[in-house]
Amino acid sequence: MNVCIIGSGYVGLTTGAVLAQLGHHVTCVDLDQNKVKTLNDGKVPIYEPGLEELIQENAKKGTLSFTTEVQKAIQQNEIIMIAVGTPLRPDQTTDLSYVESVIEDLANSINSYKIIITKSTVPVGTNEWMNRTLIQKGVRPDLFDLVSNPEFLKEGTAIKDMLNPDKIVVGTTNEKMVDTVKQLYKGLDTLYIVTNLNGAELIKYASNAFLATKISFINELARISDAFDVDIKTISKALGTDPRIGPHFLNAGIGYGGSCFPKDLTTLTFSAISKQVVPYLLHAVQKVNDTQVDYYLEKLQDSIPDLSTARIALWGLAFKPGTDDTRHSPAIRLLERLSEHKCEVQGYDPVAVLNHPSFRQLDDLYESVKNCDALILVTEWEEFHQNVDWNKVKQNMKGSVILDGRNVLDPEVAHQYGFQYLGVGRH
Ligand code: UDX
Repeated sequence: MNVCIIGSGYVGLTTGAVLAQLGHHVTCVDLDQNKVKTLNDGKVPIYEPGLEELIQENAKKGTLSFTTEVQKAIQQNEIIMIAVGTPLRPDQTTDLSYVESVIEDLANSINSYKIIITKSTVPVGTNEWMNRTLIQKGVRPDLFDLVSNPEFLKEGTAIKDMLNPDKIVVGTTNEKMVDTVKQLYKGLDTLYIVTNLNGAELIKYASNAFLATKISFINELARISDAFDVDIKTISKALGTDPRIGPHFLNAGIGYGGSCFPKDLTTLTFSAISKQVVPYLLHAVQKVNDTQVDYYLEKLQDSIPDLSTARIALWGLAFKPGTDDTRHSPAIRLLERLSEHKCEVQGYDPVAVLNHPSFRQLDDLYESVKNCDALILVTEWEEFHQNVDWNKVKQNMKGSVILDGRNVLDPEVAHQYGFQYLGVGRH
């Protein structure tokens, strides 16, 4: 099939590379000329394991190419996938300007039948609005079908996730589209969930909201565990044995981040309120996450009462391991709080970079703790908990406090090296 993908971010590039690998001819479009040039030079502007290799392999075979020429790409392909960003505006509403601009491009370019597939996460009702808008802008209804086909990939394991989906969701009003989507993903053995446009959009929000709820639940339980001197890891383990609960997304930590959970929770909350539904639970999930860093900073202050004279090291800046993405990372929240306390903050991450006036980024794990009063482990990169020379860390640090924001260190080992260990719901 000939596929055009508009938007070359995480979702667009991964979808493009995987569809090319499945045997389709894919053209990825992006308005950013520098990005397209970089991609045509065989380089990938984001850190995503395996993506560069897959892109290079398919570009070489001639099944994957990159362009800024959106009109031409729309006209030359029958399948048009929309994978542009849908960020939040400062007032927390969803900025749909990239989607609107694609609709404008489609209205100006459609000259033959197109199947338009929305991969971007868009608020419930957006695909119906897109359908109406295309017709209002003069596109004949028989010249297109619109399908909502949300993406569930995770950063850091994006290719694996796309090649092994739990399900493929198809939102459509035209039954025939289900076969088209099945043809597109031919080779992926999975379950198809067919629903209408609103249903497909809502599944995506429901999925992220549920996962975030699990995290906030276990994070609240971590606070309660602390109060009763119980190790939260035992609680998670016990909960996870019940198949009705399941073991995943029950790792307590200093909160979830990334480009999806915080944004999608906010959008779902707005959607509910717009229909006079009070989202009590969603508010609570957000509240736990928004206060998790503060709660554990208070614990740090029990050990270091005057943070204003302290120097703190952060290990990890990315919102999770396997990515260089710092969007909504707890590291940023920590940095802001620590700068309010006027302490000096420095740190290290194997791939992520944080440009912040109050932060000094170092490029060595051991250098990053030099003369620090405390070390906060923010992201559970393997090099922060496997084969660490703790003697060296201890020698380089001035103080001895470790706040393990991901519960990946062994408290016993930390104690043996003379550290004071503070975990999230364990010590
Ligand atoms: C998420 C969804 O998992 C994915 O299906 C969707 O398509 C996009 O949003 P992603 O944002 O890449 O993916 O990250 P994910 O692995 O889900 O982690 C999100 C955040 O939750 C991270 O900050 C992670 O550290 C945190 N987390 C995860 C926890 O704090 N505890 C856990 O047990 C699991």
